[in-house]
Amino acid sequence: MHIRGPGKRKREMNVLELKDVSYSYLNRAKAVDSVSFTVSRGESLSIIGTNGSGKSTLLYILNGLIKPESGKIFAFGAEIEDGYPLWLRQRVSLLFQNSHAQLFSLSVWDELLFGPLQLGLGIKEAGQRAEDISQMLGIGHLKDRGPWDLSGGEMKKVALGTCLSTNPDVLLLDEPTSGLDPRSQVEITDLIIGLREAGKTIITATNDLHIIGDISDRTIVIGEDHRVLLEAGPWEALEDHDSLLKANLIHKHLHRHSWYEHEHSHWGAHEHEHEEAAPAKETDESPLTDTGRLKILLGHWDEHNAEHAETYLEWASKAEEMGRPSLARTLREIAGETKKMEGLFKKAQGDL
Ligand SMILES: Nc1ncnc2c1ncn2[C@@H]1O[C@H](COP(=O)(O)OP(=O)(O)OP(=O)(O)O)[C@@H](O)[C@H]1O
Ligand SMILES: [Mg+2]
Repeated sequence: MHIRGPGKRKREMNVLELKDVSYSYLNRAKAVDSVSFTVSRGESLSIIGTNGSGKSTLLYILNGLIKPESGKIFAFGAEIEDGYPLWLRQRVSLLFQNSHAQLFSLSVWDELLFGPLQLGLGIKEAGQRAEDISQMLGIGHLKDRGPWDLSGGEMKKVALGTCLSTNPDVLLLDEPTSGLDPRSQVEITDLIIGLREAGKTIITATNDLHIIGDISDRTIVIGEDHRVLLEAGPWEALEDHDSLLKANLIHKHLHRHSWYEHEHSHWGAHEHEHEEAAPAKETDESPLTDTGRLKILLGHWDEHNAEHAETYLEWASKAEEMGRPSLARTLREIAGETKKMEGLFKKAQGDL
């Protein structure tokens, strides 16, 4: 299906803007605290943060489901003060984190027809729209099923279908890849890339750090204090380990090399031991591009090179104490060669 959009990457206008927005549920502690950001037309923004940091709440605010207790919201240049007007509801669509909150009809087909019919399309045109969407998402075989009887992943695709069925300008996607199998994750990632290419404005809240480089132009990291901790390009954000550690999105991890261990930080899946020796096979289905993955590996190798050299020296001393001078010499030589690689990883990153 051809995805219609407002045109390729036009950035002439702020589509959504939050200024110093805060919100607390039931007067409890803040769920969103003094958050400001803008999203321009055709831009794709990712919002990352730990569980409970306020990502979903931000999307509810952006979708007009809840009204902030303080701060301002602007949409398409107009300040939104008293709830979302109808014209705005038609232009913005939210994929709920929990698909149960999205689906209510008796069949998947009815779900897909609902939005287009509400927009005033005739039954024939609405049916064509529903057909196109179900083909695009590979959910045609689910047409007659009750949406509540579907698996979590199937439900997520149907929910996404209902969002797309009204052809909105702005998509707010709350954890679009969670609960999906690896192939479906790649399909949804590709779909978001397609929507981005079609010029849609997209805001994605996710804990799936693997996808943000592919799907977004910019990333906001929300800290556990519910405030914006960092705003940067997605790759820059992924490399800012201090901010990711502070946001608790990565963890210090004991890294074992069978007989010694050292500490380093981790994000995403635990893919080795030992990925340096045998990088995971890249396939066309990988959610990361080849260069993206290499960039991350180069950063990892760079981060640990000096530590590795130190460890070889420690073991050279131990070999000396054990009365193994030849082994000690070889280990020192390895340490020396390792140190010589300083800077080469950064150079390779620059060459990428
Ligand atoms: N309906 C609610 N009533 C009361 N508190 C809520 C409600 N929904 C969320 N909260 C609280 O608001 C804060 C932000 O929650 P939110 O769901 O926005 O976080 P999140 O970043 O989307 O988390 P997750 O990654 O788990 O989806 C949390 O402290 C949460 O406990
Ligand atoms: Mg959430």
